[in-house]
Amino acid sequence: SKKTHLKEVAGIPLQVATVDNWRQIQSFEAKPDDLLICTYPKSGTTWIQEIVDMIEQNGDMEKCRRTIIQHRHPFIEWARPPQPSGVDKANAMPAPRILRTHLPTHLLPPSFWENNCKFLYVARNAKDCMVSYYHFQRMNQVLPDPGTWEEYFETFINGKVGWGSWFEHVKGWWEMRDRYQILFLFYEDIKRDPKHEIQKVIKFMGKNLDEMVLDKIVQETSFEKMKENPMTNRSTVPKSILDQSISPFMRKGTVGDWKNYFTVAQNEKFDEIYRRKMEGTSINFCMEL
Ligand code: A3P
Repeated sequence: SKKTHLKEVAGIPLQVATVDNWRQIQSFEAKPDDLLICTYPKSGTTWIQEIVDMIEQNGDMEKCRRTIIQHRHPFIEWARPPQPSGVDKANAMPAPRILRTHLPTHLLPPSFWENNCKFLYVARNAKDCMVSYYHFQRMNQVLPDPGTWEEYFETFINGKVGWGSWFEHVKGWWEMRDRYQILFLFYEDIKRDPKHEIQKVIKFMGKNLDEMVLDKIVQETSFEKMKENPMTNRSTVPKSILDQSISPFMRKGTVGDWKNYFTVAQNEKFDEIYRRKMEGTSINFCMEL
């Protein structure tokens, strides 16, 4: 069993190196033309990154394939000394920058709000997110062992996972959406109608691409294509960090896989907790396609 543990900041469990670098992260200086990709873990981060990257490169797949997607969009809270931190990488990048975070709204470096940056948030239904996170923690050697599915169910509900409670994360960003430049998307919508959702991203990024380019982006960002693409499937990450023989990073990419994991009792319990925790919010998730 892995000995990795997490450390809390304001009640949110984060990776220890992130917490140790907290001061640098909080004093990060955003620029007004930064675009920040925001997600709760396992909600389609890599997917939206590839979509954004292809839009940025005007559909030029050759350019997209030059570097690994994670390296193109520095992860603000990433830290693994002595390597440069996410903040160091962002600081070394020319504007306009595309950055990435899993932080909840109240832990975001304040300069992102002060500079009125663009935020692109992708939310995924909690049940599929939990299943995906469970498998990710099994294969990720620098996150804690998830334990059994039954154990993980409780851990996830109680927000004792990296980046905290799904409920608080989604609610926090949902409530901010009218006050800032936030494009709020749903994993399930992108899955159902990628063309429509990608068009929204193009508009949000202030781009104007023709129909052929749009169709190409839709094709190249499908689950099947991204699973084969070494720039997106994380096959280049060492096994000591991501052991894809346990569970592939590009695992299933579907809506409704939770039905293969949740027992009837777990489902009832979850729905009750969901009602309580999400009471008063207008957000609505699609649980199957
Ligand atoms: P599953 O584990 O359910 O398969 P993140 O990038 O935030 O870590 O999210 C990973 C999840 O997004 C995984 O979910 C992964 O398979 C899924 N995913 C990645 N690329 C995708 C794509 N092009 N289409 C659909 N799902 C995708």
